[in-house]
Amino acid sequence: MYRRAHWKIGDLPWGLFESSRVDAEILKTVKAAALVEYGGLKYSQYLCNVFSDDPDFKSAAQSWGLEEVQHGDTLGRYAGLADPGFDFNRAYARNVSGFSIDADKTESIRGSRTGELAARCMVEVGTSSFYTALAVATNEPLLKAICRTIATDEFRHYSMFSSYLKRYAERENISRLGRAKALLSRLIEAEDDELAFAYFSANASENDIYDRKKYIRFYEADALPLYSPDIVRHGVTLMFKASGFRPYSAGEALASRFAWNLLQRKIREANIYDKDSSLE
Ligand SMILES: [Fe+2]
Ligand SMILES: [Fe+2]
Repeated sequence: MYRRAHWKIGDLPWGLFESSRVDAEILKTVKAAALVEYGGLKYSQYLCNVFSDDPDFKSAAQSWGLEEVQHGDTLGRYAGLADPGFDFNRAYARNVSGFSIDADKTESIRGSRTGELAARCMVEVGTSSFYTALAVATNEPLLKAICRTIATDEFRHYSMFSSYLKRYAERENISRLGRAKALLSRLIEAEDDELAFAYFSANASENDIYDRKKYIRFYEADALPLYSPDIVRHGVTLMFKASGFRPYSAGEALASRFAWNLLQRKIREANIYDKDSSLE
């Protein structure tokens, strides 16, 4: 049984907002996140198609999708407060016009239901880590409170998908290695168009043309430096748990070190790009 979030947008401490503490680079990542989150219903519809004979999971996926939309709505409102010139509806329409998933598919694009659930787990590892990092990094009190609230939801989403992942891995006889591979392939895919295009839709001027590599680097230059070693380590722990491998082990310590070094390399690569061209 899925436990839903019990908060509403009006419950958040909007009065804490301090415009002088808004960080322009962090705000760009918040705007991009708002657009991705707001499209959550497409994914829940797709999941309901893929798991059409599992009413328990479908009910959980529908509640999950509504929570993701609420995250998008919350972050969109925050972005409008921090930048009154930001037109959320326009940015969202721009994002949908260039990037959308085929929500009508009835077979998982991951090849199996286990693969699908592993991909969803990986996304929740990413979002829970991202909002935790953002909550620590920002000095703006309202954004800090919003990110803590959303991060709690994302950890709960991870637990939900992880419990179904275990169930389906047994049913479909997918090994721990198979699960780990599915998680890693979604992690590699994180460097795909979804976030980069959302970053472009939210932040580029009207005349700018989308350049995939450029906007991946722009997004990474703003988002990746937010992560601390502890947050990376925790993300790796969640991946180990979802795969069925023993967390807090020597293998996990090694994987964490590898992930941290990879992150530093990506930050260096992202910083090579000159960021002051079209976005300022
Ligand atoms: Fe979310
Ligand atoms: Fe989530």
